[in-house]
Amino acid sequence: RTFNVAVVGATGAVGEAMLEILAERNFPVGELHVLASERSAGREVDFGGRKLPVRDLAGFDPAGVDVALFSAGGSVSRAYAPKFAAAGAVVIDNSSAFRYDEDVPLVVAEVNPEALAERPRGIVANPNCSTMQMMVALAPIHRAVGIERINVATYQSVSGAGRSAMEELGRQTAALLNFQPQEPAKFPVQIAFNLIPHIDEFLDNGFTREEMKMVWETRKILGDPDILVNPTAVRVPVFYGHSEAVHLETREKITAERARELLMSAPGVEVVDEPEAGGYPTPVTHAAGRDPVYVGRIREDLSHPRGLNLWIVADNIRKGAALNAVQLAELVVKAGG
Ligand code: A2P
Repeated sequence: RTFNVAVVGATGAVGEAMLEILAERNFPVGELHVLASERSAGREVDFGGRKLPVRDLAGFDPAGVDVALFSAGGSVSRAYAPKFAAAGAVVIDNSSAFRYDEDVPLVVAEVNPEALAERPRGIVANPNCSTMQMMVALAPIHRAVGIERINVATYQSVSGAGRSAMEELGRQTAALLNFQPQEPAKFPVQIAFNLIPHIDEFLDNGFTREEMKMVWETRKILGDPDILVNPTAVRVPVFYGHSEAVHLETREKITAERARELLMSAPGVEVVDEPEAGGYPTPVTHAAGRDPVYVGRIREDLSHPRGLNLWIVADNIRKGAALNAVQLAELVVKAGG
């Protein structure tokens, strides 16, 4: 049997990857509807070598859609996801609109697929990209020895902020190399040749919303409200691939060797950990365009008896967004739609 699929936000960085991954993994697609704003209506996008016309979401009738993958921002999801669900579709939503609602499961395919079964609103939330890759790598350690606290600093690529952000990094880099100063637009300050410790809006507690997503989502995905998370989220001038320096405090001690063994057999993880030049993952050499979550620099913390350090890198558009959404769709259809 095939399933009628809608991709909402199909012209965006994540939407385009959703189409690519649906084709690549031979998802049993019946009809495929590619939807975006009226700005894109009439454009064409590629699906496995076929050209499909983009249609305006606002005028689209969701009747007959089995699975809808949404990645067009929170306000679009809030307005349209319930309509698709009411028409009978299972909605897999990449925005943060529903992630913290109790009756919406928040699922990483390798970590808590069982949570998919309970979806009373017909909506499933796809986690934030930084949380996603961290969960794939940390869930096996949490299961083995328990994690008490996670200290994490992220190094997040510009693709996480969408197509216009990638264009800004490219344009700004070229302009600055030609001694032409450029005004920032998408980012609050210059991103080329710089770093920005500010992603999403500032909240009253002094953290950014991107940082708090890692706190809230980690607890929900691991089903453990006691895990402490202390994040700093930083945007870096990299096009594809988020990196994370993660410092754990575990409940029981775990050696680096045991952690390496656990991670080598963990689903979705690839260990790249040789103490030599290039023996560690980076966005460019490993993650960009690939599916696994790469883990390296696994070592015990010199300053804490139950501390473990890891370096985690993944393609934020693929595992961090589009790939996990398609994996969830696969699990939904395997369970009978
Ligand atoms: P469009 O290209 O027509 O603006 P990105 O995160 O890479 O910027 O992509 C955002 C995606 O969400 C694009 O596909 C964009 O379509 C889509 N989008 C943005 N606003 C709307 C809207 N109001 N209705 C439907 N799609 C939208």
